[in-house]
Amino acid sequence: MSKNIDLYNSSYSNYSLETYSEIRRETYGEDYGQTSWVSTAESHEIPELLQLTSDSSVLDIGCGSGGYAVGLAKRIGCRVVGFEINASGVKTANALAENEKVTDIVKFEQHDASKELPYEDNSFDAIYSTDVMCHVPLRREVLSNTQRLLKSGGRFVFSDALVIGGLISYEELETRCPDGMYFFSPPGINEQLIQESGLKLLEARDTTENSALLSKRWHDAREKRKDALIACEGEENFLGVQRFLAGVHRLTSERRLLRFLYTCSK
Ligand SMILES: C[S@@+](CC[C@H](N)C(=O)[O-])C[C@H]1O[C@@H](n2cnc3c(N)ncnc32)[C@H](O)[C@@H]1O
Repeated sequence: MSKNIDLYNSSYSNYSLETYSEIRRETYGEDYGQTSWVSTAESHEIPELLQLTSDSSVLDIGCGSGGYAVGLAKRIGCRVVGFEINASGVKTANALAENEKVTDIVKFEQHDASKELPYEDNSFDAIYSTDVMCHVPLRREVLSNTQRLLKSGGRFVFSDALVIGGLISYEELETRCPDGMYFFSPPGINEQLIQESGLKLLEARDTTENSALLSKRWHDAREKRKDALIACEGEENFLGVQRFLAGVHRLTSERRLLRFLYTCSK
């Protein structure tokens, strides 16, 4: 039913349209080009969890349209490499880095997190990945690679928005998976894989409430701009994304689907 709904391409290729920017501001408060369940409070806390300084070298796994990485580099002065599987995301991100005049410290590349990555061992002080892990096959390998890329004492922060919390029907699962690959996690698996990768888990924080709140706001902000969005995305896509957002809200507010934020160190 919800197959072939385009969530990421339409968000990244329409990034600079005022309608999409208004929707992000109404959903999150601050616009970093998000397509995730990262609240603005969490966005503000991530640099602290990662212990970033202006000397840090940082990797963003699944950077989307790059707004958050560019913001970090501008605020903190750290160097950031972001990568994404989605070509529109990388293109938008590099254009944003140029516009914001931070290409000396920020760059974006197209890679698949489940494949071998072209970065040296022990090359990053901090790595983060917001709401990406649920899309990536071979999580055990992704976590081992992250461990390999981090310097000793470095921090890794990631979220998983698809931790199973209760009974979910086939139809609900299908509606929750509009675009690409999705992996649902049994509770405890991320903790186990983190430990097996050689990373140390410092905190696993339940942030399900943020997903419940943001999915409702995102849905309602889009609904208000229905005509403009249908003109951009087409009616079928508009309705599919709305069903997806309503589904996320239902599953997370009933805590049948949970989101966790993990902070790890090497
Ligand atoms: C929920 S969005 C989050 C984007 C961004 N991190 C944010 O917080 O707004 C998930 C992102 O993961 C990317 N992604 C999916 N599979 C990936 C993979 N195998 N390697 C790299 N990125 C991937 C998608 O293209 C999408 O941009």
